[in-house]
Amino acid sequence: MAKIIDGKLISKQIKDELKAEVAKLKEEGREICLAVIQVGNDPASSVYVGNKKKACEYIGIKSLAYELPEETTEKELLDIIDKLNNDNTVHGILVQLPVPEHINEEKIINAISPAKDVDGFHPASVGALSIGQKGFVSCTPAGVIQLLKRSDIDITGKDCVVIGRSNIVGKPMGMLLLRENGTVTICHSKTKNLKEICKRADILVAAIGKPKMIDAEYVKEGATVIDVGIHRMENGKLCGDVDFDSVEPVAGAITPVPGGVGPMTIAMLMNNCVEAGRNQN
Ligand code: GUN
Repeated sequence: MAKIIDGKLISKQIKDELKAEVAKLKEEGREICLAVIQVGNDPASSVYVGNKKKACEYIGIKSLAYELPEETTEKELLDIIDKLNNDNTVHGILVQLPVPEHINEEKIINAISPAKDVDGFHPASVGALSIGQKGFVSCTPAGVIQLLKRSDIDITGKDCVVIGRSNIVGKPMGMLLLRENGTVTICHSKTKNLKEICKRADILVAAIGKPKMIDAEYVKEGATVIDVGIHRMENGKLCGDVDFDSVEPVAGAITPVPGGVGPMTIAMLMNNCVEAGRNQN
């Protein structure tokens, strides 16, 4: 029987710590502010943006919502980002992705000041992570590290296998595990002998995007299994990249879906906002 890593509980603890810090900053007359920009009305994005606003409210962070129409031009969006970059009452800027096709995502990410890049997507933030300098870290992989640390799962010297090499999760996940002294392997769709590599892992992070792909055959007895995937099944229920029922009897610890990694992403976004506020004040 694996220990279930409760992301809902751990994210609540983090949010409550941040709430206390934000209250203290308010007493000193300092208010933290996050600008959230959504272009168009993709339903999934609207849910994510709504959850981010709710988390801000809970913690006491002011949120500015920019709900822009689908037809917004790249120039209009860049002008708003420029204005927010130069507004010293705004500490964090987040452009919900994906942006409509006529807008160049890379240009938008590059336009956000690294000091306000609470998503950790700017090349300066990614570069800082890779050379061990201070900078914002992508929220989902940062959340995974918190799940491990707060569950007393030591990373030092462990064989860590990450499946997935996205800029937002897989690559920064590998860098963070390396920073914590793990021995890191990053696997992807072209990896040969995936099963054998995964089976060596003490800590296995699945960020593949394929429902229930990882079953017990990929998992070493007693391994920690972190599931970053989230998928809606035909029966309406959610599942991850890991086949929970198959893996749970073999693993030493495992994150459920929902209630594992998911809630941590927003908690770490809030953490980055508080850090941005601290740094800029
Ligand atoms: N779209 C899906 N995930 C994210 C995220 O973490 N940040 C932003 N800005 N957009 C997203």
